[in-house]
Amino acid sequence: MNKQTVRDIELKGKRVLVRVDFNVPLDPQTKAISDDSRIRAALPTIKYLLDKKSKVILCSHLGRPNGKVIEDMRLAPVAKRLSELLKRPVPCTRDCIGPEVEEAVSKMKKGDILMLENLRFHAEEEKNDPAFARALAKLADVYVNDAFGTAHRAHASTEGVTKYLPAVAGFLMEKEIDYLGKALAGAAHPFAAIIGGAKVSDKMALLDNILGKVDYLLIGGGMCCTFLKSQNYGVGKSQVEEDKLSVARDLMGKAAKTGVELVLPEDVVVADKFATGAQYKTAPINSIPSDWYVMDIGPRTVKNFSDRLRKCQTAFWNGTMGVFEYKEFRAGTEGIAKQLASLKATTITGGGSTAEAVMELGLEKKMSHVSTGGGAALEFLEGKTLPGVAALLDKKT
Ligand code: 3PG
Repeated sequence: MNKQTVRDIELKGKRVLVRVDFNVPLDPQTKAISDDSRIRAALPTIKYLLDKKSKVILCSHLGRPNGKVIEDMRLAPVAKRLSELLKRPVPCTRDCIGPEVEEAVSKMKKGDILMLENLRFHAEEEKNDPAFARALAKLADVYVNDAFGTAHRAHASTEGVTKYLPAVAGFLMEKEIDYLGKALAGAAHPFAAIIGGAKVSDKMALLDNILGKVDYLLIGGGMCCTFLKSQNYGVGKSQVEEDKLSVARDLMGKAAKTGVELVLPEDVVVADKFATGAQYKTAPINSIPSDWYVMDIGPRTVKNFSDRLRKCQTAFWNGTMGVFEYKEFRAGTEGIAKQLASLKATTITGGGSTAEAVMELGLEKKMSHVSTGGGAALEFLEGKTLPGVAALLDKKT
C-alpha cells in the first residue's frame, strides 16, 4: 500500500481519532451482536495505539439512522463487546461531537480509550459537512482510518476530517488493501477467481476488471443462469437478466480470446419452489425442468471448480454459489469454501455474504484473508478509487 500507516507517525501521548467500521450485524430480536469479526479485526490497531500510549478516540457508524438518534443503534453494546475483548473498560460518550465529548477527551490520560457515539446520528456525517468534520478533528491531533468497510464512502469521518489532521491508515486498512490488491496486481499464478451471487449486474464491473488478471474464471450462484441462458440453455423459472445476455456472451468471447478458462456449471441443484422445504434434485444443465428454479451448483460442478482450484497459487472468491440461507442449497458454497480452506495457495475471500458464509462454516482461519468490506471490497476490485483511502497521506519516497 502506498499510504502512510500508524508505523509512520509519532503517536506517544497524542490524541488519536480512529475511524473504525463497527457496523456489526445485530440479532433482529435481541439486538445482540451476532458477528463481532469487524470489532476483532480492528484490535491490532487499537492495541498498537494503546501500547504507544496514545489517547485512543474511536468513532464509527452503526446502521443507517439517517441523522436521528435511534436508541437501538447506540454504540454502547459495541463498546461493551470491545471492552470484553480488550479486557479493560471502554467508556462510551452519548454524542460524537460537542462540549461533553470535548470534556471527556480532555480528561483522557496517555493509554486511555474512549468510544464516541454513532456518527450517523448527525446527518452531517454522510453529507461530509466541513463544520462537522472540523468538530471531529478538534478532538484529536492525529487521524487513523482503519474502517476499510466504509472506505468507499466520502463522509465527514472518512474523508472530510483528513483535511484538518495528519491522516494515516491502520493495520486492518493496510491488510485489506494489500490482500485485495493481490487480486488486481501481482498475484502468483495460476490464479482463479470464483464469482457467484444473485445478479450478473452486481458483478459486471468486477468480472470485467478481473478477467484480464486470472487464468480461471469460475462462475456460480444465481448469476450463472444468465450465462447459461446466453449459451441457449433453459434455466426454468430462474431469474435471468435478459439485458445482460449479450454482456455475458461478450465476456465469454473475451475470455476465450485471452486464454482465460471461463468455467460454467455442468450441473445444478434445482427446486420446485424458491423456498426451504421445497422438493429438489440435481440436474445436468441441459435438462433443467422448465418450471423449477436453479438453487445451487451441483456436485460435478464443485468437482470441476475444485480441480482448477487445486492447481492455483492464488484464489479469489466473491459471491455464494447457491441460496446459502436455505440449508438444502448450501452444499455448493460449502464445497468451494472447504476446497479453498484446504489449499496451500493465497486465498482471498470478498466481504458481504461470502464472508458470512465462511464465518458460518467456521473456515475463516483457514483462509489467507476474509475481507471485512462488502461494498468497499467490491468497489475496490472493480478498480474504483476509495475516497477513504485516497484521502490518506502518501508514503514518503
Ligand atoms: C458496510 O457495512 O458495508 C459499511 O459499514 C458501510 O455501510 P453503509 O452501506 O450503510 O454505508
